[in-house]
Amino acid sequence: MNGPLLLALADGSPQNLSIFDPVSPPAEAIRYLSILVLAITGAIFLVVESVLIYSLLRFRRRDAANTSEPPQVYGSKPIEIAWTAAPALIVFVLTLVIARTEWEVRVDPERFQPDLKESKPLRVTVVGHQWWWEFNYEKYGDEKLGFITANELHMPASNRQVPSERRPVFLTLQSFDVSHSFWVPRLAGKTDLVPGKTNSMWFETERTGLFVGQCAEYCGTQHANMLLRVYVDTPKEFENWLANQKKNAHKSDDADVRKGKDVFLSQSCINCHRVRGTPANGVFGPDLTHLMSRDMLAGGMIPNDRTGENLRKWIADPQKIKPGCLMPAFGLSENDLDGVVRYLASLE
Ligand code: CUA
Repeated sequence: MNGPLLLALADGSPQNLSIFDPVSPPAEAIRYLSILVLAITGAIFLVVESVLIYSLLRFRRRDAANTSEPPQVYGSKPIEIAWTAAPALIVFVLTLVIARTEWEVRVDPERFQPDLKESKPLRVTVVGHQWWWEFNYEKYGDEKLGFITANELHMPASNRQVPSERRPVFLTLQSFDVSHSFWVPRLAGKTDLVPGKTNSMWFETERTGLFVGQCAEYCGTQHANMLLRVYVDTPKEFENWLANQKKNAHKSDDADVRKGKDVFLSQSCINCHRVRGTPANGVFGPDLTHLMSRDMLAGGMIPNDRTGENLRKWIADPQKIKPGCLMPAFGLSENDLDGVVRYLASLE
């Protein structure tokens, strides 16, 4: 289960959030644009500062007794044309490049890249919630998926050289409550999730491993803890992951787990959480059907350890770990708490 995480660690730093280290075409386009803008504005800065410093030194008052005004120059047509035309040209060039980048980053590439017709795209609808991410897996190639996960997006690695091995990911972005922003810097730029509006973005990468990101639009007290993890699996690993996610929740034969399940189903947990294949069908909180296939809890804040220790702390008092989050402490008895944790820890 920690395979992708360990791979990413071996691969370098999973905490790499640099826009200058892109691994996907939209992020590459943004790096190119950033460098171009920095180069042009840097050159302007150097020219202006050089002229300024030269003038300060060259025309400084050398004779303290001389208080007369130096000769004044008025109206030079060539100079005025030059300093109007040059900035206009620079702004025009930057406008064109920005428009092109915006087009590459925002537009569904299927509309302008015919070679993607042979590819196998993954389509996911992302819904922003205070303060976690809902991922609705819609389609992989022609196959309808129809399951929901949270906070950790799994996607297949692409091979951009071979059309039939390309695996672009198209995200449809919506919000459940307030505005959020989906940002995984090495994959793509920020795209907002706005209530009542649907946005879209895409990315495609050949690099497997973990790519981190986070909500980039202030959305309330726990905005800083609305963390994102994107796992890029090999196509084979991804298909194994899909096969497990498509299944209904694991049914355990263990009597203690079954007792825990009864406790879980008798509590108000089920008003907000769904466990597919059980009466728990809530939609306000993360889908828990395959909770233990995720590495983190609480929107990416704490590790989802196999012993269930953090899970227990999280359920016992969510407000202690993530103050302001919408899950209250239910004041379960120690016995009931053990039961609920035992049940949830069985949801591989
Ligand atoms: Cu969601 Cu900030």
